[in-house]
Amino acid sequence: MLRIAIIGPGAIGGTIAAWLAQENGHQVTLCARTPLDMLRIETPGGMVEARPRVLTDPAEATPVDWIVVTTKTYDAPAAARWIAPLSGAGTRLAVLQNGVEHRARFAGLVADAATVPAIVDIPAERTAPGRVLQRRDGTMIVPDDDAGRAFAALFAGTPIAVSTTDDFVTAAWRKLALNSAGAVNALLLKPAAIAQDEGIANVMRGLSSECVAVGRAEGANLPPSLPDDVVAAYRAMAPDSVNSLHADRAAGRAMELDARNGVIVRCGEAHRIATPINAAIVALLGAAG
Ligand SMILES: NC(=O)c1ccc[n+]([C@@H]2O[C@H](COP(=O)([O-])OP(=O)(O)OC[C@H]3O[C@@H](n4cnc5c(N)ncnc54)[C@H](OP(=O)(O)O)[C@@H]3O)[C@@H](O)[C@H]2O)c1
Repeated sequence: MLRIAIIGPGAIGGTIAAWLAQENGHQVTLCARTPLDMLRIETPGGMVEARPRVLTDPAEATPVDWIVVTTKTYDAPAAARWIAPLSGAGTRLAVLQNGVEHRARFAGLVADAATVPAIVDIPAERTAPGRVLQRRDGTMIVPDDDAGRAFAALFAGTPIAVSTTDDFVTAAWRKLALNSAGAVNALLLKPAAIAQDEGIANVMRGLSSECVAVGRAEGANLPPSLPDDVVAAYRAMAPDSVNSLHADRAAGRAMELDARNGVIVRCGEAHRIATPINAAIVALLGAAG
């Protein structure tokens, strides 16, 4: 039996908690900010329900085998307060968040070798506390090391496919190249269709090109064609697709702007690589709110 604590049972946390709770023997605990009664996840295959234990105070937490963080990136400092009381000998930490700084956000709390950064592609939306619409089965990518393989094994009996890679840095920066361009949609509050406009597509290519340059300096192996691939990907999306930065801004919520674009500017400065387009969009979106 594995004890698994999910910190942040929102769209992603609620979905994976519900699936893990279906697995025989897993004891799932939800570490929540807002109380919830149960999980009801509308999945592509039908409704999946679970009634895990719910904690709302880190003082109630006891050690588990796996801690899985699924808060938004900007809630990482508050999420980190759960980690010490949930940790014991052998506890592993999985960080299911956007960006490329999964380990850095929780540095020093769990050994690096026991920390699993995960790239998440599970389209899901929270409709109320504990209620989620999961639009597709979804996938995750984790490093091909002992902890990454153990994390992937947790999902073996679920429809969520977790694959491993021996080059996680490249996989994470590749995803960031796509996400960085989505800041244009958030700024204009217009969905994916705006990528059909060649002027807009050029701004997206610029954001993504800076990401590619900085990612390469960080050790990622990214092809020069990636910015064009990013634009092609936005053009291939349903015209009314709304990315999460756009959705958060439209709803008046905080945005993962620093994790998606600010990081390109910060890492660019460290490598003396100019990132004026990302800096401009960070300033504009930061001011626009
Ligand atoms: N949703 C997607 O389709 C998707 C796809 C790919 C990647 N991601 C990434 O996955 C991560 C999670 O996104 P999400 O969409 O699942 O976000 P979400 O639906 O907003 O869920 C985040 C959850 O964290 C909770 N939380 C915040 N601070 C907390 C704290 N201190 N202790 C306990 N719980 C706390 C929130 O509580 P409240 O209920 O109080 O707000 C909320 O339930 C993000 O980095 C996102 O970019 C999401």
